[in-house]
Amino acid sequence: YTVDWDASAAEKGGWDSFMDKEIHEDPAAVQRTLLGRFDKNGDVALDEVRIDEHDFKVIDKIIVIACGTAAYAGMVAKYAIEHWVRIPVEVELAHEFRYRDPILTPRTLVVAISQSGETMDTLMALRHAREQGSKVLAICNTQGASIPRESDAVLYTHAGPEVAVASTKAFVAQITAAYLLGLYLAQVKGAMFRDEIRHILDSLKDMPRKIQWVLDTQTKTIHKAAERMLNAQSFLFLGRHVGYPVALEGALKLKEIAYTFTEGFAAGELKHGPIALVDEGEPVVFIVPPERGRDVLHAKVLSGIEEVKARGAFIIAVAEKGDKDVERYADVVFWRPACPTLMSPLVDVVPLQLFAMDMAKLKGYDVDKPRNLAKSVTVE
Ligand code: AGP
Repeated sequence: YTVDWDASAAEKGGWDSFMDKEIHEDPAAVQRTLLGRFDKNGDVALDEVRIDEHDFKVIDKIIVIACGTAAYAGMVAKYAIEHWVRIPVEVELAHEFRYRDPILTPRTLVVAISQSGETMDTLMALRHAREQGSKVLAICNTQGASIPRESDAVLYTHAGPEVAVASTKAFVAQITAAYLLGLYLAQVKGAMFRDEIRHILDSLKDMPRKIQWVLDTQTKTIHKAAERMLNAQSFLFLGRHVGYPVALEGALKLKEIAYTFTEGFAAGELKHGPIALVDEGEPVVFIVPPERGRDVLHAKVLSGIEEVKARGAFIIAVAEKGDKDVERYADVVFWRPACPTLMSPLVDVVPLQLFAMDMAKLKGYDVDKPRNLAKSVTVE
């Protein structure tokens, strides 16, 4: 897919940037990644499989290898796959993986997540895993790219070509595909009953509608928050559980297109050091878990918000519609519809993508072609 950077507005679907167009394709990216993923019995099926189903049955460990946004998608998937399949899932930055002499066996499934399928760090890590005798499965957005070609099995994301350098729709598609892999493994290994798998698939199929709700109702609030925070010199992004990798991704977006210093970290880390960074007016973005039945994680994130609020921080929260506690403390709230905790990254990341884009646009930067960056890092 060659990029025509000066594509006419038609190419950008009438949006003023590829990034804007691609964020608004988040719902379709999830929906299309789910389409055609099921066999005649309604069971999850992979795109390409060059090994036996038995090879999947005996898998006793997963190592995800990826870089940047793709690695954060892998971090989200870790929580879901471990919960469903009950095997350990490690997430490794591909460029670190082979230099740490990892322990790999034929029962280790190495999952390479890559939008372009050409990231050299990830390709070299994949080759190392195969040399060590492990099976490799690729989650990729580019048909026939090097990484899927050199894998034993493939699950394609169907986000469509992602042109903007900052990855957006591919991220939600990667999470969706990784969840499908988790459900496939649960199915093959008998780790869950079919009706449990169906129930999870139903909630996954309902996510495009929930993402669309965020796009339809929150963009004004997000734009106003960007105008208000335009001159902020730095941002902190905090989240717990699946909200933690979403915080890392939100921080990366602001770094790479608005050139703003950001730090994403696990909300529980706050009092172990980073709270020293909180000064009067410091913007802190919290990804707030669902309040379902006074979820313990919800209470812990709330106490983090109170702590930084007490030190004068400006609180931006991504939270579930109707969360009264958050409303009491946050200066700005990006609302999301109610959804299962494991599905929440698919909606929580959307306002952070829009916020980063608005900040960059307000600063007059090119959101599609940020400085110093390439769409695919094909050198090590
Ligand atoms: C994401 O916004 C970045 N452009 C970058 O981190 C990217 O996700 C990373 O380089 C991995 O690329 P890939 O998915 O094509 O392998």
